[in-house]
Amino acid sequence: MSLRFDGKVAIVTGAGGGLGRTYALELAKRGCKVVVNDLGGDRHGTSASSSMADKVVQEIKAAGGQAVANYDSVEFGDKIVKTAIDNFGRIDIVINNAGILRDVSLLKMTELDWDLIFKVHVKGAYAVTKAAWPYMRDQKYGRIVVTSSNAGVHGNFGQANYAAAKSALIGFANSLAQEGAKYNILANTLVPTAGSRLTETVMPKNLVDALKPEYVTPLVTYMVHESFQESGKLFEAGAGWYGTIQYYKGKGKVISNATADDIAKNWSNITDMAGAEFIGTISEQSGRLMALLDENESSSAPSGGSSSGSAFP
Ligand code: NAI
Repeated sequence: MSLRFDGKVAIVTGAGGGLGRTYALELAKRGCKVVVNDLGGDRHGTSASSSMADKVVQEIKAAGGQAVANYDSVEFGDKIVKTAIDNFGRIDIVINNAGILRDVSLLKMTELDWDLIFKVHVKGAYAVTKAAWPYMRDQKYGRIVVTSSNAGVHGNFGQANYAAAKSALIGFANSLAQEGAKYNILANTLVPTAGSRLTETVMPKNLVDALKPEYVTPLVTYMVHESFQESGKLFEAGAGWYGTIQYYKGKGKVISNATADDIAKNWSNITDMAGAEFIGTISEQSGRLMALLDENESSSAPSGGSSSGSAFP
């Protein structure tokens, strides 16, 4: 087993079942000390119990690994990080995995459906990561994973709340990747698919059984290892397939002094993806925009426009 985690400490949120449990077991097997966090509630974000986290800690200890349970909701990230510091003295890895579903169409969605989803997925990832950040910054080492979803990338019927939260996490991780770069803190996004308590309501049973969480585990394990050097990227796993999702920008078209009619007339050029370019960072995008502005201004009649100043947000 060459990818070892000896001396490293990880927090895996929502590790009492499903995907998180497999990450915690695998990291512990490879020498990592693990905080097994789980609120132990139902899949809709209500109720709580200590039994789910305790069971996984027992499994890890029975296999000779080191782990401690934490039962706080992820919105109290400082308490989860305190569990890591009090028990193991450091924190190197945060896998933001805890999640719930409250699927309902927008028409029938309540404030609670919206707020609970954002509290667990977005506020939770923020709170745990924010509390771990100063330790990672001081030690100049950190590996952070946030868990998005194909719903966050593509949207999904009946999941406007969940899809919005999962999409928010991509922007969160990509920003942390930039803020963490000079401190060797790497942040990436995972898009998993697996049969679990969460997906058994939306997938047929044969698919739930076939899509083993263990298919996702190796990718996540590599994503939090010290040899992993990617940051600000999206990686996907499910059904034994591993890949990446990237944003490409079409070449589009500069149209000086465009009117809505010009946009309509040029629609096929504007939406053509032939020769699309990969845009990795916002500074690449910023440079690209300035070049386009120059192209626009040099091809247009003087109209008093200026290319100076910030192009964002
Ligand atoms: P799961 O329901 O088996 O596991 C989620 C765990 O999070 C549960 O053990 C639950 O008790 C815990 N949890 C919920 N709220 C919590 C809170 N406030 N604080 C601490 N723990 C809490 O679900 P699964 O499938 O393993 O999901 C893991 C993550 O992967 C979630 O973020 C989910 O949205 C995401 N995901 C899963 C997909 C799948 O196909 N299973 C697809 C896309 C994303």
